[in-house]
Amino acid sequence: MRKKETITTIKAAKGERKLVMLTAYDALFASLLHEAADMLLVGDSLNMSFLGEPDTLSATMEQMIYHTRAVCNGAPEAFVICDMPFGSVNTPDEALANCVKVFQQTRADAVKIEGGTERAPLIRHLVDNAIAVMGHVGLKPQSVRSEGGYIVQGRDEESFKKVLEDARAVEAAGAFALVIEGVTPDLAEAVTKAVKIPVIGIGAGRATDGQVLVWSDMLGFFEAFKPKFVKRYLNGAELVRNAAKTYAEEVKEGKFPEDMHTYGK
Ligand code: KIV
Repeated sequence: MRKKETITTIKAAKGERKLVMLTAYDALFASLLHEAADMLLVGDSLNMSFLGEPDTLSATMEQMIYHTRAVCNGAPEAFVICDMPFGSVNTPDEALANCVKVFQQTRADAVKIEGGTERAPLIRHLVDNAIAVMGHVGLKPQSVRSEGGYIVQGRDEESFKKVLEDARAVEAAGAFALVIEGVTPDLAEAVTKAVKIPVIGIGAGRATDGQVLVWSDMLGFFEAFKPKFVKRYLNGAELVRNAAKTYAEEVKEGKFPEDMHTYGK
């Protein structure tokens, strides 16, 4: 059994060990994944991976709370982060009310909020009210419609400077760590060096303090598309299809159930 991480151990990891984060959305997979991961993120990617939505914008507070409870139940020793969904943190007071709901209705340790300089005062307000916040800068999936797509950041001087500024603002506001997504490796490296808090990368190269992947991408269950940054460590979809096919064949051929699966008198 691994020891539960805390804000303090996560912050102290910077420069000492690489941090491992995975998404989890339910109790079963949380219980399978938490041994390997320092942090479990209940990401709003849930709506893409498991609801089949084209982006994350449809995720609601109710969904995030429901799934965060499940993850905390499945992995009571895990450090769990609840992703604050699109539209739930528009003002500091609304953000605080919604984060308080997360903390009261689940055993989550922290929340994650997408945004940079524009969200810094709001993050400060949350941190001042005992909410642990992980930032999320670079490519922000909740901005996909306003940005007109998923655009890798750091390829031009303007976005390079902006993401660096965002990361510094999020750190100054009191975030304990931040995710950096969809940026060039040199930008990820610059951000990792510029801030004292751990920087967790996704689609950001190797220079960050840790990595995060969506579990259904990492285990090869999600086949709709495969972003360049995803490595599949298992061919989950094929394993599931083959197992279901074998079960169906055995049912049709009368091979299942066998005596060992059948109650005696
Ligand atoms: O929603 C999510 O899964 C995320 C990660 C990809 C960082 O925000």
